Amino acid sequence: MPDRYAVIGNPVAHSKSPQIHAEFARQTQQDLAYERLLSPANAFIATANAFRTRGGRGLNVTLPFKGEAFRYSDRLSESARAAQAVNTLKFEGDAIIGDNTDGAGLVNDLVRNLGHAVAGARVLLLGAGGAARGVIRPLLEQQPAQLVIANRTLDKARRLAQSFRDGLEASSYATLAGRQFDLVVNATSASLARELPPLPRGVFARGALAYDMMYGTGETPFLAFARADGAAALADGLGMLVEQAAESFFIWRGVRANTAPVLKLLRQTAA
Ligand code: ATR
Repeated sequence: MPDRYAVIGNPVAHSKSPQIHAEFARQTQQDLAYERLLSPANAFIATANAFRTRGGRGLNVTLPFKGEAFRYSDRLSESARAAQAVNTLKFEGDAIIGDNTDGAGLVNDLVRNLGHAVAGARVLLLGAGGAARGVIRPLLEQQPAQLVIANRTLDKARRLAQSFRDGLEASSYATLAGRQFDLVVNATSASLARELPPLPRGVFARGALAYDMMYGTGETPFLAFARADGAAALADGLGMLVEQAAESFFIWRGVRANTAPVLKLLRQTAA
């Protein structure tokens, strides 16, 4: 019997994780099965427990269960603690170990795949919800020159900034006018609704990268805005998805997968 893993969410039908992990397993010759696990909205714990009872070794957790998975874990990694959310569960004996690989996924995509250093860069993070919180610690670890969190509701950005450390700055969108950044990451849910965060013009420094954590919907209003406003490079979140999966795979299997061919395959399938 191969070791069993799954992605748990609601909805989960369109998740690319089974395809990504199947590719990683084939590439590294790991004997495992990876499935989709649709959980009723009010039954995350029961669904996860049933999977464990059937011999499940680990879960990727997607919306809307990352907070519940955080509370479900009895041991937490530093990144899960900082994110207050868990996207990777590992079942080891009786222990439920919670981790969060989203931020590492973003940083690996930025630095390795896109060749865009975070170290020393002026970084602007849009949004102050769960998606933004999940990536702050790994971004800070890269030692950017600045990390500014902009949010429509300024108070939420302030509270988020305070929960990390001094030097993390909270801003409204309007007060960004006149400032410039080398990297602008959209972690709002605006792209889902085909909306544009109210960024002033001129925030993209020469050579700036505009990164939207969203993927699979074509060019988002944020990326279209960035293109028109002179951003030098644009990226969607597909690379982050593959990289966070590779980190999960490593946590479970202790083996590093080669992400480049998998990302290429997904881009070809999407085209
Ligand atoms: P997630 O877990 O995806 O981060 P969330 O916790 O609901 O979801 O947070 C959504 C984020 O997107 C928030 O920062 C929200 O801004 P507010 O806190 O001001 O509501 C942001 N957001 C959603 N739609 C937006 C839009 N059209 N323009 C700017 N920000 C938007």
